[in-house]
Amino acid sequence: MTSARIIGTGSFLPERILTNQQLEQMVETTDLWIRERTGIRQRHIAAPEETTCDLAEQAARRAMSAAGKGPEEIDLIIVATTTPDQVFPSTACLLQSRLDIHGCAAFDIQAVCTGFIYALGVANSFIRSGAARCALVIGAETLSRIVDWSDRQTCVLFGDGAGAVVLEAAETPGIISTHLHADGDYESLLRVPVGISKGYHKLQQEQAFIEMKGNEVFKMAVTTLGRIVDETLEANQMKKTDIDWLIPHQANIRIINATAKKLRMAMDRVVVTVDTHGNTSAASVPLALDVAVRDGRIRRGDTLLLEAFGGGFTWGSVLVKY
Ligand code: UT7
Repeated sequence: MTSARIIGTGSFLPERILTNQQLEQMVETTDLWIRERTGIRQRHIAAPEETTCDLAEQAARRAMSAAGKGPEEIDLIIVATTTPDQVFPSTACLLQSRLDIHGCAAFDIQAVCTGFIYALGVANSFIRSGAARCALVIGAETLSRIVDWSDRQTCVLFGDGAGAVVLEAAETPGIISTHLHADGDYESLLRVPVGISKGYHKLQQEQAFIEMKGNEVFKMAVTTLGRIVDETLEANQMKKTDIDWLIPHQANIRIINATAKKLRMAMDRVVVTVDTHGNTSAASVPLALDVAVRDGRIRRGDTLLLEAFGGGFTWGSVLVKY
């Protein structure tokens, strides 16, 4: 049976780094509080003229180069983002043009921090059904644009970046299973409460910010991610020890620790980038994946569990034979 194999990964981070010490000058916070409560030391912030598509383009080029694939071989582009460049065309279409790819399906997916997991799930279905053979799947964000830089409860958490994979149809195992979920009842806990149809153009730009009841989101994230671990293992009749690497969404080191504990997994089998990247929403999982592929930790044949939880609420996992 045809499966979707990851044949190349890539990522890109904006040059500018914002440290906790710099945040101490901006809001009433401390480096110690941020490190102890979140595990974050620094995050990357896009330059004023740098857009989500700019970050996505660099990550995509690196993934295509790692995969040894040219533009003519890509027949599906999916970009997971909550911070698209413009209302339309989609960031995926803008990217398609920049990469000189023509004619294939290209679209964005909006599932906030779970966006890349959703995008992998959709691309996997395209490949398994024969609708695509070689897919470029990207998570890219300029989250700094929707952060209230005067709100210490949220501004210390987020960062910008992009990560990408190239998936190809193969007869050997690749993506083993995907598990996608949402429950729209929790909007009040995590949201940006404005948008185009609600009259964004009539508002001051300053009102389009992330609002989060952090503590309640935290508790939901821990229990929900624990459940998704069980669901993924049960669906594949696998044991905890069958997982070689956990590649979690990078929101908070304490949430990551709790999921690793649930898997009875030592932290040296967990890819952690939250310390240097912060929470980059849809970009966080592919960024972490690329870091661990490039530094040689993740090897061919390893079994990877990718998971995420975020606004919506949305959550999900992807089990991969790398
Ligand atoms: O990626 C999408 C999903 N998002 C998440 O998964 C985020 C989930 N939530 C979290 O990661 C954590 O809840 C936070 C890091 C956001 C907050 O950590 P917490 O341990 O849940 O803290 P808290 O919200 O309960 O606040 C504890 C205290 C409060 O002070 P009082 O009321 O105890 O006096 C806050 O006002 O910490 C205070 N506080 C801060 N202090 C210094 C909140 N933010 C800051 C700050 N610096 N930046």
